[in-house]
Amino acid sequence: MRIAVFGAGYVGLVTGACLAELGHDVVIRDIATEKIDALQRGEVPIHEEGLRELLERNRARLRFTTEMEEALEGADVVYVAVGTPPLHSGDADLTAVWTVVDELPRADRRIVLAMKSTVPVGTGRTVRHRLDERGLENVGYVSNPEFTAEGTAVHDFMHPDRIVIGAFDSADADVVEQLHAGLDAPVIRSDVASAEMIKLAANAALVTRISFINEIANVCEATGADVLTVAEGIGLDHRIGPSFLRAGIGFGGSCFPKDSLALKQLAANSGYNFQLLNAVIEVNELQKRRVIGKLERRLGSLRGKKIALLGLAFKPGTDDMREAPSLVLAGRLRAEGAEVRAWDPVADGAAELDGVEIAGSAIEAVEGADAAVIVTEWPELRELDWAEAGGRMRNRLLIDGRNMLDPETLRAHGFAYEGIGRAGQ
Ligand SMILES: NC(=O)c1ccc[n+]([C@@H]2O[C@H](COP(=O)([O-])OP(=O)(O)OC[C@H]3O[C@@H](n4cnc5c(N)ncnc54)[C@H](O)[C@@H]3O)[C@@H](O)[C@H]2O)c1
Repeated sequence: MRIAVFGAGYVGLVTGACLAELGHDVVIRDIATEKIDALQRGEVPIHEEGLRELLERNRARLRFTTEMEEALEGADVVYVAVGTPPLHSGDADLTAVWTVVDELPRADRRIVLAMKSTVPVGTGRTVRHRLDERGLENVGYVSNPEFTAEGTAVHDFMHPDRIVIGAFDSADADVVEQLHAGLDAPVIRSDVASAEMIKLAANAALVTRISFINEIANVCEATGADVLTVAEGIGLDHRIGPSFLRAGIGFGGSCFPKDSLALKQLAANSGYNFQLLNAVIEVNELQKRRVIGKLERRLGSLRGKKIALLGLAFKPGTDDMREAPSLVLAGRLRAEGAEVRAWDPVADGAAELDGVEIAGSAIEAVEGADAAVIVTEWPELRELDWAEAGGRMRNRLLIDGRNMLDPETLRAHGFAYEGIGRAGQ
């Protein structure tokens, strides 16, 4: 099929590249000229494993443009993969979505508009009205939410747990289902509102598990238990399962914080107070700040102290720093008067982190530091020569915000080691 993808961001690029891999002819359109220029030159503007290879391998079936007409020419399906960031109110900002919908020209044959952007429940119905008002009845509408995770997005797209297709018209759902032929996954066909809710509810379930295990970790710290052992013990219960039971310094990224806020607001706008989600969000905000308390308990006032932040991206495998815990930590540390030096193997950070020195390596970041904090679980940190790192520090204190290192090994290197929820360690 001929596919147009609107948005060349994390989702649009992966979607476009994977659909080309499945044999479709894809044009990706973005309004950011520099992004499209870079893609046309063969550069990949984001860090995502396997994406570069996929784009190269499918070069013959992939084009990039800033022109709406070029993207739409002959298209059977038009994917919307533009950003839906939070407004000050917490609601999703749908400006970019409306721009795409309202710019769509009349088509002389049926095309399907497929929503990949994460949108509030009810958006599809509004899109349908807007299309009908403009006489675009032959533009079908399908909600086909995206569940890929940054860092493993290409793999996730090609091996999905499920494909969700919500449509007003089953013929449009058929088209989107056919697009995915070749992928081995259950297909959930539903009405549009339910498909929209599946996406928001899935993210809400995941963040609830994160805040749950983080609260268990905090109680472990207060009572002498070890959250790693506890998570293993509860994760083996088949009714619970092991995923998303890693305690740490909270969730970030471009999806979880904004989508949980958007669902909370969606509920509130509909007259319902989603108390559980309110708590999940609040627990996460507090969790990011707990590291400051840990540092203060060990170092006293942080004024003038040198703190190394190891990792800036919101998770390993991506350069994405949107809503990353590192931003809150750096901001709080600067506010307390600390000097902050940070390192990340792929995220740049210079633009986002005012007053923070960016180091070229983890060893450079810890040079002369009073403490180091692991913020992102980069494999490079597991392989770091911690004996050498300790030797470079003014004070060997390590707060392992991701519980990724072995406390005994670090202690053998003379470190005071503190993880999250590991009182017994
Ligand atoms: N990032 C993820 O892993 C992920 C996963 C699932 C769902 N989502 C959802 O997918 C959507 C996109 O997320 P993202 O992370 O890819 O965002 P992004 O910010 O990386 O990319 C969005 C792109 O859309 C472009 N754009 C804006 N207006 C446009 C227009 N009128 N025409 C064409 N392009 C336009 C922007 O220039 C930008 O390049 C969001 O709704 C997000 O919630 C993201």
